[in-house]
Amino acid sequence: MTDDWGGEQAIRKLAPGRLVIASHNPGKVREIGELLGPYGIEPVSAATLNLPEPDETGTTFIANAELKALAAADLSGLPALADDSGLCVDALNGDPGIFSARWAGPGKDFALAMRLVHEAIEAKGPEAGRDAHFICALALAWPDGHVEAFEGRVNGSIVWPPRGDRGFGYDPIFVPRGHSMTFAEMDPAAKHAMSHRADAFAQMVAAVL
Ligand code: IMP
Repeated sequence: MTDDWGGEQAIRKLAPGRLVIASHNPGKVREIGELLGPYGIEPVSAATLNLPEPDETGTTFIANAELKALAAADLSGLPALADDSGLCVDALNGDPGIFSARWAGPGKDFALAMRLVHEAIEAKGPEAGRDAHFICALALAWPDGHVEAFEGRVNGSIVWPPRGDRGFGYDPIFVPRGHSMTFAEMDPAAKHAMSHRADAFAQMVAAVL
């Protein structure tokens, strides 16, 4: 991070203690808790504190993660961690991107979302490439408004039809670069070792803990 004068500013460290996980997804809260437990971080979910979910009005993954983390830190008086993630397809100019969850509709139908991605690529014509990447932005905010943000990424390509029944979301149509199985065909531990989320967490742990 640079300060207003263009100099390097120290990254703020996260002290042991309570950390609000600004997500209403219990699976995510548990997983993040397991990752940070060894560092003396005690996770508290936003749902436990009855914190509202702010609208994701940002235009980037980082902006959305930051606005969720800042809102939770401000309301709770504790440091807060938020994430935002999605699939970006080169031939679709980065779509579905920050709208990855929304492409699945209110019924969270990812069979539909994957078909929409496939059809949108097909509509670009036979020359359209299949390159894609997942992004995971993590933002750590403090009640005084300070934020540290990290962006993890995994490159790969889109395949059709979907393959595999592990994982979630767009996993059945994403093959990470250098591999032949989709994320949904892999052992979850193999996915977790190379994913965009693992990359973002590794950056965060190295920087703030
Ligand atoms: P959010 O970050 O919870 O707002 O939602 C991100 C959306 O991106 C999810 O609903 C998934 O559709 C998609 N996504 C993010 N990470 C992954 C992943 O690891 N595998 C498959 N889909 C993902």
